[in-house]
Amino acid sequence: MEKPNVVTCTAPVNIAVIKYWGKRNEELILPINSSLSVTLHQDQLKTTTTVATSRSFQEDRIWLNGKEEDITHPRLQSCLREIRRLARKRRNDGDPALDSTSLSHKVHICSVNNFPTAAGLASSAAGFACLVYTLARVFGVEGELSGIARQGSGSACRSMYGGFVQWIMGQKDDGKDSLAQQVEPETHWPELRILVLVVSAERKPVGSTSGMQTSVQTSCLLKHRAESVVPGRMREMIEAVRRKDFAAFAELTMKDSNQFHATCLDTYPPIFYLNRVSQQVISLVHRYNKHYGETRVAYTFDAGPNAVIFTLQQHVPEFVQVVRHFFPPETNGGQFIRGLPVSSVALSEELKQTIGLESTPKGISYIISTKAGPGPCVVEDQHLLGSDGLPKKTV
Ligand code: DP6
Repeated sequence: MEKPNVVTCTAPVNIAVIKYWGKRNEELILPINSSLSVTLHQDQLKTTTTVATSRSFQEDRIWLNGKEEDITHPRLQSCLREIRRLARKRRNDGDPALDSTSLSHKVHICSVNNFPTAAGLASSAAGFACLVYTLARVFGVEGELSGIARQGSGSACRSMYGGFVQWIMGQKDDGKDSLAQQVEPETHWPELRILVLVVSAERKPVGSTSGMQTSVQTSCLLKHRAESVVPGRMREMIEAVRRKDFAAFAELTMKDSNQFHATCLDTYPPIFYLNRVSQQVISLVHRYNKHYGETRVAYTFDAGPNAVIFTLQQHVPEFVQVVRHFFPPETNGGQFIRGLPVSSVALSEELKQTIGLESTPKGISYIISTKAGPGPCVVEDQHLLGSDGLPKKTV
């Protein structure tokens, strides 16, 4: 057994505030509109991936969250093929830094998330971003990689950068101009906070890939949104982020989430991602903002019932207490708040009364408190694969 060449990297989750929904090319994963997201901090949510190459490996193999999976998955194959293509190109262009022998070697891939899959958070974005970033390091490929991550999962291209990231839809048929780009780094807006409200879902919702396919085929609202609404919203959102204008950012975020879910309802047959608890969170946010006469908190929802809340640091303790009040957690059900610490405050009777929602015990399982964070990075000495090229027992 020849000692493998091993690299380990981590990559973040991102949450879109202008949503991607609908493809114009299924194979290349080209979207019908641009989108914009905030990269979440990897201290709370990340994927770790180890890639090993060795002359001794017989075939490409992959283990995800402790289980061996099928490497022939077409999107995995696209990413592997594209990285190997770039590596070959560099070698043929005569890059002396490139270890050309490893190009023919098979790879072993091992990947884990630091958050439960059951939390219903989109893990494919962090997963494919991490895979592509790590493969690129192993094969000595540098430069623009979001176009390859995009071919794993559309939203994965935005996880290739930290902070505030736009995915420019592009115009070309070959997708060469459909790439992610950083709008502002994670240090740009330090007061911004993100709360992931993990809602207990009873059923597994329709997946994004098939959901958006049906929407493209049947929803004329989606066509209108992509052509006439998103272009203006992208410009306004970029401006709001640049100016750190929370009220403008929050309003656009909520309106865009609502329009995305409206296109789901306009899909035939309709798709429902929001449940009763999601709807209560929406009411709660609007009543909270109304109480103060300003937009202090915003919600957004992806293809599931979990709410992602944006607010500023100064409002976090009170808003979390409001959530705890209307969605009382199990008293012995483990930690309700995870991630960045949140101090506790008392709520005024007046605030509770103006919100006036009926209480839904255990409607929210727990909250992950986080902020904007950096893009993928290399980590030393935390390999998930051992010197035999197989997952370590602890993985
Ligand atoms: C609602 O990126 O998961 O989260 O490209 O088919 O893999 P595929 O879909 P995916 O879709 C994400 C949809 C969304 C909105 C967003 O993240 O922009």
